[in-house]
Amino acid sequence: MIKKGIILAGGQGTRMSPLTKAVNKQLLPVYDKPLIFYPLSILMLAKIRDILIIVNKGQLDQYKKILPNGNNLGIKITYKEQDKPRGLPDAFILGEKFIGKSNVAMILGDNFFYGQNLSSKLMQNTKLKNGAKIVLHKVQKPEAFGVAKIKSNNKIISIKEKPKKFFSDLAITGLYFFDNKVVNYAKRLKPSKRNELEIVDLLNIYRKKNKLTADLIGRGGAWLDTGSIEDFYKTSAFVSAIENRQGLKIACLEEIAFNSGWINKKQINNAVNFYGNCDYSKYLKRLLKIHK
Ligand code: DAU
Repeated sequence: MIKKGIILAGGQGTRMSPLTKAVNKQLLPVYDKPLIFYPLSILMLAKIRDILIIVNKGQLDQYKKILPNGNNLGIKITYKEQDKPRGLPDAFILGEKFIGKSNVAMILGDNFFYGQNLSSKLMQNTKLKNGAKIVLHKVQKPEAFGVAKIKSNNKIISIKEKPKKFFSDLAITGLYFFDNKVVNYAKRLKPSKRNELEIVDLLNIYRKKNKLTADLIGRGGAWLDTGSIEDFYKTSAFVSAIENRQGLKIACLEEIAFNSGWINKKQINNAVNFYGNCDYSKYLKRLLKIHK
């Protein structure tokens, strides 16, 4: 079982300036909560409770205000600063000590997942013992993402980062599961032309050894990434539509922790006091009433 997870939540967010000049992108709102709540909720739904969040140098205090050390959620959160965006595989170099001898999951701080059976699918993926696993989702504009071509048995034939020429419409989402070898493989990578370590180069090491597998999110599931301001609005509209229709929140961290038995009612009450008089707190109070 993979029990450790990394959230890569640095990056300059230049495409969203001036919004990101003072505040990190992952702390900006997606509807009623900071973006980072969504990827964190995914790790929590995968029952991963030991979490490293990688943030930009100088922005640690911003994060700690909203996500201190995880005690309030019955999980453990540690932080590591990245002094500049060296690329996604840098997470495994920065996270070497945190990872230790374990296998590890990684989610990008700007990725949003939603759908039926998501939790059980996630837990299935944490069973990975050897190799690496990526999660794929069909998209209309594959040129904006890492892309994978697969055979009918989900075997991966090739992967490319933001291909200019169409070769598949299956995007590689920002959720990855790796065995412990990832640390050494990441250390071996050389920066690309854009001077970053590339996630596809890392995945290709596994693919060439026949150790890369894929999980597909079908059309009943949603995957959105929030690279631009337009994406933020679309994702916010999506969350608002679902939450207001169902009366259930997406990525309410305390609810996930409570349902998992990691925190009790007292801690939910503490959260209500912490957040103050807002809709999120009202939702938590309702949760307490239901479980009276
Ligand atoms: O969202 C899925 C896509 O994410 C994948 O399909 C691509 O294969 C993958 O390369 C990545 O593409 P992006 O262009 O979206 O990556 P971006 O540089 O925007 O970084 C994604 C997140 O990771 C973002 O929230 C910032 C953070 N980040 C990024 C880099 C390069 C860091 O914290 N540190 C970094 O060094």
